[in-house]
Amino acid sequence: MMLVLCGSAMKKRTAILISGRGSNMQSLVAAMGDPEFPAEPAVVISNRPEALGLSWADEQGIATVAIDHRQYANRMAFEARLHQAILDHGAELVCLAGFMRLLTGGFVDRWRDRLMNIHPSLLPAFPGLDTHQRALDAGALIVGCSVHFVRTEMDSGPILAQAAVAVLPGDTAETLAARVLEAEHQIYPLALRLVASGAVRIENETAIFDGPVEVPLPLVVPSLGRTR
Ligand code: GAR
Repeated sequence: MMLVLCGSAMKKRTAILISGRGSNMQSLVAAMGDPEFPAEPAVVISNRPEALGLSWADEQGIATVAIDHRQYANRMAFEARLHQAILDHGAELVCLAGFMRLLTGGFVDRWRDRLMNIHPSLLPAFPGLDTHQRALDAGALIVGCSVHFVRTEMDSGPILAQAAVAVLPGDTAETLAARVLEAEHQIYPLALRLVASGAVRIENETAIFDGPVEVPLPLVVPSLGRTR
């Protein structure tokens, strides 16, 4: 039996939370432009009113909301407003896409297994900021990016998808970040598609996909003479 999506009725409405340029948001919106994609954009929310991604989303005709965290007395008040804005737009899934505010347990628990994040490292390696420089300093030969369901601890939670990227001779944090970003743009839509289609379940804090998954050959990288 083939499952056919009827109009947008069965699509999971998805809120995208950003803080800056929003290139991952753009990759998600582009993927959602496919009529067969099981999710659709509900709203783009930024904690920074000046975020470039917010005006881009507005130009695409997507609902946008700026919730400036500096206007709120504490994290709970900010997150209450965030939660309400997501509900007001009928979103069932939330994608953090370069959203640079830590979220407390109250918010994270309310959206458990419906709240995703992308991080530019192969988690659990290098959580937090400055990931590319830290990976270079550590002499890593393979870096990458991860999409995961969010848990309270920063950049933690069941991993939904990862992509590996080779470190090349002469790489700087900037050149590495640019190549990892290209991989981010591939895995976030992939992870959202799997989650929105209902193909993911969580067992013992591990994400499991129902259905066939293509596993590519391993990426093998010899030490290419990169100097630290
Ligand atoms: C991306 O590289 C994303 O992985 C990272 O911020 C960048 C946002 O870029 N997120 C984190 O570091 C979260 N811990 P974008 O605004 O162009 O999507």
